[in-house]
Amino acid sequence: MKSKYKTMRDFIDIEGMNVFESAEYFQNFITQFEDKKLYPYGFVSDSAIGKNMTVVDFYSKSVTQTISFVTNNYLGMTQNQEVQNAAKKAIDSFGTGTCAAPPIGGYMESHKILEEKLAKLHDKEKAILFASGYTANIGVFQNLFNKLDLVLVDMFVHASIYDGLKNNTNIKIYKHNDMSYLELVLQREYKKHRNMAIVIDGVFSQDGDLANLPDICMLAKKYQAMVCVDDAHGVGVFGQNGKGTLDHFGVADKVDLVTGTFSKSMGTTGGYVAGSEKLIEYMRHYSRSNTFSASLSPASVAAASKAIDVFTANPQYINKLWENTHYLKKRLIDCGFDIGISESPITPLMIRNDEKTLFIARKLLERGIYVVPAIYPAVKLNDSRFRVNVTAQHEIEDLDFFCKTLLNLDNEYNLKLRK
Ligand SMILES: Cc1ncc(COP(=O)(O)O)c(C=O)c1O
Repeated sequence: MKSKYKTMRDFIDIEGMNVFESAEYFQNFITQFEDKKLYPYGFVSDSAIGKNMTVVDFYSKSVTQTISFVTNNYLGMTQNQEVQNAAKKAIDSFGTGTCAAPPIGGYMESHKILEEKLAKLHDKEKAILFASGYTANIGVFQNLFNKLDLVLVDMFVHASIYDGLKNNTNIKIYKHNDMSYLELVLQREYKKHRNMAIVIDGVFSQDGDLANLPDICMLAKKYQAMVCVDDAHGVGVFGQNGKGTLDHFGVADKVDLVTGTFSKSMGTTGGYVAGSEKLIEYMRHYSRSNTFSASLSPASVAAASKAIDVFTANPQYINKLWENTHYLKKRLIDCGFDIGISESPITPLMIRNDEKTLFIARKLLERGIYVVPAIYPAVKLNDSRFRVNVTAQHEIEDLDFFCKTLLNLDNEYNLKLRK
């Protein structure tokens, strides 16, 4: 793949090109993959989302049955019978959508009940729903903070946090989990702003490691900063009964706002923010991505609500997730693969070469394994990897099959993946 176009970044803000010209020029990015058929983004899933997925090839349109590691369906709730039944019942009773924003008829009893359940899950007074985890973060960061504030952001937080903060606020991005630097900035900026806030992911979505929440909360208290945690990958995975990373670290009472999504452990779509009663009521009026967007469909609300009931009452789902996670990590390490610094079911298989990563993705798919490559700009340059997502649905044979196929590829193509 020898090309002057290296990454998607090469196609942003090209001087002298209007939108149409830029779009036309961008075709070069897609066509550069043609020779080796390595374009990674165009596959279509033609089955339910679970550990077995049917994938339609972007180039040949051929259909492959795969063992999938691409989704964050950690507990398999997309295919849980109780969750599916709850969603079906909600459609029968309340129809397929609300077709209205929350303040103008779109707020149903089921939304209210789910908000209460989420507040309880996070040991907070109140919660508010959003159409997705992405828009929940937009709703917090676009509307609560502005130029009078300083928001300190770990460099590896999710894109939705950056997008929420874009252009509107003073932000200081600090090196990943670097507590000394964070303290330095807090000290320097102390009392110079209306608010200071520290924003982190509970579980970082590319490396799978955790935020140092105890130290962050301690520093926040010392320098009077708010703490906001996006716990998208923590809920249903960490803490007692899946309460998330705040519970795991025992810091729920020290975190001001926690944001989350239903698109991972809860097996559907939607997002939320939990916090104090006053903050949440304030957001109900001033978070534009809540106020001006149609509320969640009855089926999504019912599915998320039932998923929480299921995983909090039945520890076997979370136990199986962790059993699989430990098994896969140990096998990959024993084989000599580099799996980075993950502490969660997100298992990065480090390749550190974009073309090699895309090649392996292709070969794995041909052999019935679906795993998505993460290349720049999703990760830092030369930090490409596979984000192997283990779920409770996988069986030990699936994990063995993955490791064996990887070993075979490494040997056959002399990929030098092992240390
Ligand atoms: C850390 C984090 N926050 C937010 C989101 C967005 O969630 P949603 O898919 O509900 O928009 C994601 C999804 O990938 C995520 O990983």
